[in-house]
Amino acid sequence: MFTKRYFDKTADGQSVFLFENSNSNGIKVQILSYGGTVVSLQVPDRQGKIRDVVLGYDTLKSYENQDKYLGALVGRCANRIGGSCFSISGKRYLLSSNENKNHLHGGMTGFDKKIWADQIEGENLILSYLSPHGEEGYPGTLTTKVTYSLSEQNELCITYEAVSDLDTVVSLTNHCYFNLNGHDSGKIEGHFLKINGDQITPVNREMISLGTSLPVADSPFDFREFHPIGERIHDTHEQLRIGGGYDHNYILNGQGMRLAAELMGDESKIKMLVYTDMDGMQLYTGNFLKGAPAGKNGAVYQNRDAVCLETQFLPNAVNCPDFPSPILRAGENYHRQTIYRFETIE
Ligand code: GLA
Repeated sequence: MFTKRYFDKTADGQSVFLFENSNSNGIKVQILSYGGTVVSLQVPDRQGKIRDVVLGYDTLKSYENQDKYLGALVGRCANRIGGSCFSISGKRYLLSSNENKNHLHGGMTGFDKKIWADQIEGENLILSYLSPHGEEGYPGTLTTKVTYSLSEQNELCITYEAVSDLDTVVSLTNHCYFNLNGHDSGKIEGHFLKINGDQITPVNREMISLGTSLPVADSPFDFREFHPIGERIHDTHEQLRIGGGYDHNYILNGQGMRLAAELMGDESKIKMLVYTDMDGMQLYTGNFLKGAPAGKNGAVYQNRDAVCLETQFLPNAVNCPDFPSPILRAGENYHRQTIYRFETIE
């Protein structure tokens, strides 16, 4: 059962709460109403030692003063929208630009910086946010509901729901930075990763997806079998140079709820399995982590100290006719799910 306690006030005086739940296997999760942020996720390792496997901060002020999306919910549309604009049914919409002339992760004040209303229903924490028509340029009033639950099967399940009164674009994700050896244990280059994707969506120099796909075969992007993340990260592949490491979306094979990725901590022997019904997953190796405020217990996070596996629609899909559409029609129900399941290995 989730518990709720007061955490702090935002700079503009809004109260923020901390929610906590644990299961009988020793997994414990803490989530803030600010950004629906996963602050900590404690998981027992192979030896039974508890490791906090997500990066985070001790204070609300730190969360307010950073732009790394640590642990946060991201919306209305995860990833980049080229030129900060799109058209729906011939009508053009201009979004806020927060990365050069492009729109990243929902804009200047995305869902990661909003205070979410809360409701606890047993093992479920239900967070809601009402995004007004025109917010960051998006059409339609969007009622958003995100449910976090922690199960006895060691699954942190995130269910995303939304409905809009006008046609709009929605692609919600969570931006946890995982380090399965522990948030303060340094680089994730030794973590083993496997991704169920035959193709990535390459990007241009501004990191904008052009609506094309690139097979991963014979490239450092091939994670169809387990590889250490750092094994090929310094390869001269043009896409790796553009991203400063991995910062690319995989087109996940198959449809519906399926295994998207497996990540293993080389020291902890903690394994995380990611299941989702989304089309894509961004692999981001914390290439710009450096410069974030000091983390939990004073940890100083450096580049590559964590990896994000962000399930989402394919990037810039609204402007890419060959990608499945991320448009949510007026009155339609958006319902998507991602599950992070934890195990240990020999
Ligand atoms: C993402 C992007 C990265 C970066 C981080 C936030 O996942 O793909 O390029 O912007 O968010 O720092």
